[in-house]
Amino acid sequence: MALIFFFYLLFSNLFFSGVMSRSFTFSNKCEYTVWPGILSNAGVPPLPTTGFVLQKGETRTIDAPSSWGGRFWGRTLCSTNSDGKFSCATGDCGSGKLECSGAGAAPPATLAEFTLDGSGGLDFYDVSLVDGYNVQMLVVPQGGSGQNCSSTGCVVDLNDSCPSELRVNSVEGDGGGGKGVVTMACKSACEAFRQPEYCCSGAFGSPDTCKPSSYSRIFKSACPRAYSYAYDDKSSTFTCAKSPNYVITFCPSPNTSLKSAEEQSTKTMTTTSPSSGSTTSSQMVYEGALDERSGSPSTCHGVSRAITVVLSLAFCLMWWFV
Ligand SMILES: *[C@@H]1O[C@H](CO)[C@@H](O)[C@H](O)[C@H]1NC(C)=O
Ligand SMILES: *[C@@H]1O[C@H](CO)[C@@H](O)[C@H](O)[C@H]1NC(C)=O
Ligand SMILES: *[C@@H]1O[C@H](CO)[C@@H](O)[C@H](O)[C@H]1NC(C)=O
Repeated sequence: MALIFFFYLLFSNLFFSGVMSRSFTFSNKCEYTVWPGILSNAGVPPLPTTGFVLQKGETRTIDAPSSWGGRFWGRTLCSTNSDGKFSCATGDCGSGKLECSGAGAAPPATLAEFTLDGSGGLDFYDVSLVDGYNVQMLVVPQGGSGQNCSSTGCVVDLNDSCPSELRVNSVEGDGGGGKGVVTMACKSACEAFRQPEYCCSGAFGSPDTCKPSSYSRIFKSACPRAYSYAYDDKSSTFTCAKSPNYVITFCPSPNTSLKSAEEQSTKTMTTTSPSSGSTTSSQMVYEGALDERSGSPSTCHGVSRAITVVLSLAFCLMWWFV
């Protein structure tokens, strides 16, 4: 009887941990509102929301089932028109509503892509500029482990360094009655020119034939950890073991991209293939990210699980001996 009780507690505890969901925490440190969009991969259980508003300074946590995969992006300059149709100047998903409901981002949009519990039980994630850039994003794993279980993202405002032929501009009133041109986003060369050599399609559809272009190099030097073109995997795909949670920050302070790089980069650089043509700027690592890694929630989780097991064991021994 007591034994049954014990095994019940033990197994329910193990079962619980086996299906335990992960979380993604979104934080908006931009000086403006961001409307995150979410697209789940085909065949995985969707998240509870596919789009929401994140005011300046706001944070929101969303639980994800294990083995979830999909992408996040930020929509900017959104509004609802007089017909009640919701749309955004960048990253719009075309649903006409706040929720994207299975629709993806219109490029250009910075993407954060995840596959949880993928090959070898690892999480795979990246931040991609392959579909262009519209907002700074930083991804920080919390509580994972592994050699390249580290922060990634694009934390530089690429609007500034975007070549004019790739710019997406809006004409805005400058408050004084005149008009000013504001760059809202930066297209990928593939989207701007529709050439196979930029899109890694046709004869350029393999890692051997599709090489970085002068345009992708601009993205890479600004954001060395983000995908700058389709076959940029080596320096842009990150992995974590031990089921971390992730914090996704829009517009982390520019400082998060600097310094403290050196210790970690030496490790990163030695594992990076010399053929990847990465520049010295790939030495950057995210300082803020390192701070955020302390206080891992999964450690607490492990401890609380251990306590539950010990308690249930103690309980059973009591039953056994009375
Ligand atoms: C970049 O675009 C965003 C809107 O998408 C805008 O708020 C920001 O001011 C732009 N940055 C620059 C430097 O123009
Ligand atoms: C991370 O590790 C994987 C597997 O070892 C490797 O393929 C990838 O290139 C690494 N990524 C970086 C950015 O070093
Ligand atoms: C960035 O960090 C440096 C030191 O790490 C500091 O001196 C500087 O004021 C910071 N800049 C901003 C904009 O926070």
